[in-house]
Amino acid sequence: MKIITIANQKGGVGKSALSLHIAFYLHELGKKVVFIDLDPQGNSSSVLGKTDFQAVASASSLFQDNFSLDMPLPHAVLLKGDASLVNNLDIKLFVQNMNQLIKSIDDETICIVDTAPTASALQIAPLIVSDSVVSPIELESFSIAGIASILNTLNNIKEQYNPRLNFLGIVPNRVKGVSHRQLTLLEQLRTSYSQYLLDPEFKINERQAIPEALDQGIPVWRLGKTSARDVGKEMKAVVSKIYQSI
Ligand SMILES: Nc1ncnc2c1ncn2[C@@H]1O[C@H](COP(=O)(O)OP(=O)(O)OP(=O)(O)O)[C@@H](O)[C@H]1O
Ligand SMILES: [Mg+2]
Repeated sequence: MKIITIANQKGGVGKSALSLHIAFYLHELGKKVVFIDLDPQGNSSSVLGKTDFQAVASASSLFQDNFSLDMPLPHAVLLKGDASLVNNLDIKLFVQNMNQLIKSIDDETICIVDTAPTASALQIAPLIVSDSVVSPIELESFSIAGIASILNTLNNIKEQYNPRLNFLGIVPNRVKGVSHRQLTLLEQLRTSYSQYLLDPEFKINERQAIPEALDQGIPVWRLGKTSARDVGKEMKAVVSKIYQSI
């Protein structure tokens, strides 16, 4: 099982939207997917509840003793985020349980971990066991310090716990094409931080079609509305690049 984590300590930048679209994309390709929702808000779990993903356990059980899943797993698996993902977050147990899962699930299966907007075990723990990580950012909240902080956290994890962690890069999301300030920031990002971007050409615009599609439990490229066409293409370009890179 290969693991990709979607991480950024900032809230509302599109971690869940991106995680879900990676899951939809892989599912459409016929891949086996395990989606772990490490957010007590459970936003992604609500969306996947409208799809054929099957909730087999709560994600909080990964932090507990005696974790096990009935094998074989369904094709599209959800470990649900719930309110109990707040207390007793034992990182050691999480790593042990994940290592056991990695051993018992084939290499073709891809595990996607959506994380909570906190600098807690809910961000650190999955990075310790992940093969790769990707970080959506919002240009509204863009600051050199913000990116430096993401890179700093990832470097610490790499040095201390997981040398094989591969940073796929930053994805600018919720880009407001009419905002001169945002377009200037995007240019700056492409100039100064090009090597940290998933792809210097890629971004995802701010479009209502994204929450609308997620509300229906479908990817934005399936919404079938003219207003969703461009952002559908942008999202697909991002997730297919992520798939090629993991
Ligand atoms: N490109 C976009 N255009 C418009 N809306 C978007 C876009 N990306 C995400 N959203 C919406 O913005 C809201 C916040 O996005 P999302 O939940 O993915 O962020 P998050 O980083 O997971 O937030 P949290 O840190 O709270 O978990 C959601 O309603 C989502 O559907
Ligand atoms: Mg989220």
